Amino acid sequence: MGMRALYFNKFGSVDVLRYGELADPTITASDVLVQTTYIGLNYADIYRRRGTYHIESHDPYIDGYEGVGTVVAVGADVTHVGLGERVLFVDVPLANAELVRVSADHIIQVPDSLSDQDVASIGLQGLTADFLVHDLAQNVAGKRVLVHGISGGVGQLLAQILVAQGAEVTGIVSTPAKQRLAQSLGVQQVFLRNTDWSTACVATFDLVFDGAGVTLPTSLRVLKHRGRVIFYGMAGGNPPAIDPVALLAESKSILTGDLWDYLDSFAARQTRSQRLFQYVARQQIKLNPSTIMPLAAGKAAHQLLESGKSTGKILLQPESK
Ligand SMILES: NC(=O)c1ccc[n+]([C@@H]2O[C@H](COP(=O)([O-])OP(=O)(O)OC[C@H]3O[C@@H](n4cnc5c(N)ncnc54)[C@H](OP(=O)(O)O)[C@@H]3O)[C@@H](O)[C@H]2O)c1
Repeated sequence: MGMRALYFNKFGSVDVLRYGELADPTITASDVLVQTTYIGLNYADIYRRRGTYHIESHDPYIDGYEGVGTVVAVGADVTHVGLGERVLFVDVPLANAELVRVSADHIIQVPDSLSDQDVASIGLQGLTADFLVHDLAQNVAGKRVLVHGISGGVGQLLAQILVAQGAEVTGIVSTPAKQRLAQSLGVQQVFLRNTDWSTACVATFDLVFDGAGVTLPTSLRVLKHRGRVIFYGMAGGNPPAIDPVALLAESKSILTGDLWDYLDSFAARQTRSQRLFQYVARQQIKLNPSTIMPLAAGKAAHQLLESGKSTGKILLQPESK
């Protein structure tokens, strides 16, 4: 029996991507097998295809680390997940396939109130936003907060969680269309990146969320004394070197974190995902429609994400059997 998957034999442009039948994954006693309904596409998948980012060793390579689906086989030692259960996984390799082997402690149970598509559209970006607020920043109520790239995948979810937690949120975006989108998230104000917004904002914010990287010097400039930058990514490029002595002189701190270091057990995944899903249930997070593309059209999906023209999540959908 074979499964259909998006795969590649060598690193390179979208032209290396192939779609076709491969052998089904085998599971051990501590795994479950998930039949995917939606698979999340992330920028990291493009780096992996190009060969510039860690990818699971496999012949052929299969990209993708997050998806939603139904458990279709359960290992002998697994007790907390059952056949037919709908589940999310966000840190599991070889996800660009109809069938994915998932270690049972990596399973995230999903509430009946959310569709597979909704859960997939929150996935990794939602858990990132949740850990940035609750693990790294903490106690954001009443704080003046700046979010770079607020209309991005993580940015939109982050903004809504911050607003729900009582923070006063300002965002930065690149275009008027993204500004309108961000303004609909309940935030205080949204500045266009190519304006001189930072001059009027020097020493203004208690917290700055910086997933753009190149913006780190600006983030420190607009931070109050005793403020904190939450530095979590380099979507715009690597930041320049920062002098810790200069930070000390103004009591400014940079906090960093990688979600994978926080998703370290079944319980950690459950607690964080339940907290996240509650924001959706209370309508504090509103989900924008995702772009759904067949897994077989993976090449076009990679092209769309690489073009920078997409807004919101791109989900890959396996063909139904
Ligand atoms: N630490 C973790 O555990 C973790 C986990 C997941 C993701 N991340 C990181 O989170 C970040 C966002 O990921 P995502 O999935 O939300 O990606 P995304 O949807 O592509 O969003 C990226 C955002 O970065 C902004 N941006 C790009 N270039 C910029 C520049 N030169 N200056 C300022 N802003 C710039 C864009 O803003 P405009 O569209 O307005 O230009 C866009 O909103 C990435 O850096 C990713 O690596 C970190």
